[in-house]
Amino acid sequence: MNLLVNDDYTSMSEQAAAIIEAQIRSNHKTVLGLATGSTPLGLYQSLIEGCHNREISYKDVQTLNLDEYVGLEPTHPQSYHFFMKKHLFSHINLPAAQTHIPDGTAQSLEEECSRYEQLITEIGPADIQILGIGENGHIGFNEPGSDFSGTTQVIQLDPSTRKANARFFNSQEEVPTHAITMGVQSILKSKRILLLASGENKAWAVKKLMDGAIDEHFPASALHQHPDVTLVIDRQAYHLISDESK
Ligand code: PGA
Repeated sequence: MNLLVNDDYTSMSEQAAAIIEAQIRSNHKTVLGLATGSTPLGLYQSLIEGCHNREISYKDVQTLNLDEYVGLEPTHPQSYHFFMKKHLFSHINLPAAQTHIPDGTAQSLEEECSRYEQLITEIGPADIQILGIGENGHIGFNEPGSDFSGTTQVIQLDPSTRKANARFFNSQEEVPTHAITMGVQSILKSKRILLLASGENKAWAVKKLMDGAIDEHFPASALHQHPDVTLVIDRQAYHLISDESK
């Protein structure tokens, strides 16, 4: 596992963008695995700048998002469809038909999970998968206790995740109880993984991940089974590791 520690959130975001842009320059048909949440917002801003000012084209790129809430229409402001459009897709030259996100309103969620997993096989795997990390170590919405051999599936959100995400809703009750997420196994199929973490509230999870023990109670630890993972983090997220090494 490679570790890149940046001074702050901005340089973390720019470093992650530079890695992705190098990938797109080397292969215009890159498949990008994308994540939602606060962490990748700076990265997406930087990718938008790259599209406008650094001649990075998304014309032939395909994207696969990690997850979506069950029950939220794509037009719901807290849906991940809406998020991706607002923060990235509507600002770059990426054809809408080449963006893929699980459908949390599908009549049969089971069929939707199979369809999405099949799609990952057909157009993927992702050349680079972007990941955030939950304070409880979740990746995508694979909560503690998730089976590491899991593929795309419906999961019940952990109370701590609903609490953490309540900041985007009017109240915690409004946060959906379930989501569709790529499973740990689907994520591990990606050729390369970039995990972003910023801020003190992620320091515990980053330290636990770097400690190295593979444990289903800490989903991010599955990444130790992958040959090409890079943590792109800032100093605040690193601080529990750096405090110890002093
Ligand atoms: P955040 O979420 O980027 O909003 O902190 C990350 C995650 O829960 O995976």
